[in-house]
Amino acid sequence: MNQPFPPSLGKLGDLPRAQLFSGTTALEEMPNLSQACGGARLLVKRDDCTELAFGGNKVRQLEFYLGDAQAQGADTVLITGAVQSNFARLAAAGARKLGMECHIQLEERVAKTDPVYRSSGNVLLEKVLGAVLHSYPEGEDEEGADRRLNEIAQELKSAGRKPYVIPLAPGHAPLGALGYVVMAQELLQQLDEMQVIPDEVVVASGSGATHGCLLFGLRALGSSVIVRGICVRRNAQAQEPRIVQRCAEIADLLGVSSPVDKSDVLVDDSFLAPGYGYAGQDTLAAIMEGARTESLMLDPTYTGKTFAGFLHRAKASDPKTNLVFVHTGGAVALFAYQTDLENFLV
Ligand SMILES: Cc1ncc(COP(=O)(O)O)c(C=O)c1O
Repeated sequence: MNQPFPPSLGKLGDLPRAQLFSGTTALEEMPNLSQACGGARLLVKRDDCTELAFGGNKVRQLEFYLGDAQAQGADTVLITGAVQSNFARLAAAGARKLGMECHIQLEERVAKTDPVYRSSGNVLLEKVLGAVLHSYPEGEDEEGADRRLNEIAQELKSAGRKPYVIPLAPGHAPLGALGYVVMAQELLQQLDEMQVIPDEVVVASGSGATHGCLLFGLRALGSSVIVRGICVRRNAQAQEPRIVQRCAEIADLLGVSSPVDKSDVLVDDSFLAPGYGYAGQDTLAAIMEGARTESLMLDPTYTGKTFAGFLHRAKASDPKTNLVFVHTGGAVALFAYQTDLENFLV
């Protein structure tokens, strides 16, 4: 599947990249769901199956961050995430696979006191992977969290380690996002092989790295398919400029001009309530529908909300429409939300 990158993707092929999975995920049909939704052709890009430690979108992102870390001779990776961060779990796994240590700073982004939320799912796996856990008392202070992480990095440096920091706040080159330029190329090839002309691609929009870079990649490769980002963290007003900024940063990083126009950035916050990290009734219902039609395992924070948005589109579309859902993973967190799921199921 690994194709050469065209000139529109600039320096992509020259940047260091570690290999953390086999390189391709499946694009599957969802016939049961299609029937339940009125007949539109529905496909799912299985980026939940990127193999490393239960997989997810962040594996593609970590290939670029950890490739850079290796190129710099680092031996310790530092990252910040919410208590149930999939990125942090996968950073710990990727670091281990490449022979590095990992320090994780968990922010208080979600005020859940449920002990299961605070100890199961990703947190448990991070401990199993042997990551060192730190805590940061805020959840909406990205610059502050980055400052603290850099202090920890300095302490490690003084102790003789070679730390590599994965930053949280925008304004840094979004190296990891490049994984989704690669994914855009893979997706277009798969659609071509299946002879599907997609009308819309639906993807989670959190930090915006995945959404922004997928949009960037699709446009740079000549596709004008609608890319709908479902807000999982911030409202549309806050998310839209973030995606625009991400696209400009990606263009800078690749040394090309951005193929994305502001008017091309589509964000939808209708499925965000009751907020980041909280599972509303629509999200829980979407999780059940994905599981009971196509055995998809979705999560309350990212893919459940995004799937709720996808279902809405699917049910409103006519049978000639082709829709693609990008499953970015996260199912490990289902165990941390056991209480919410059980309460929903009674
Ligand atoms: C499972 C899952 N899906 C989607 C996202 C959103 O990706 P991004 O932060 O690149 O917008 C995340 C972010 O952590 C995630 O863990």
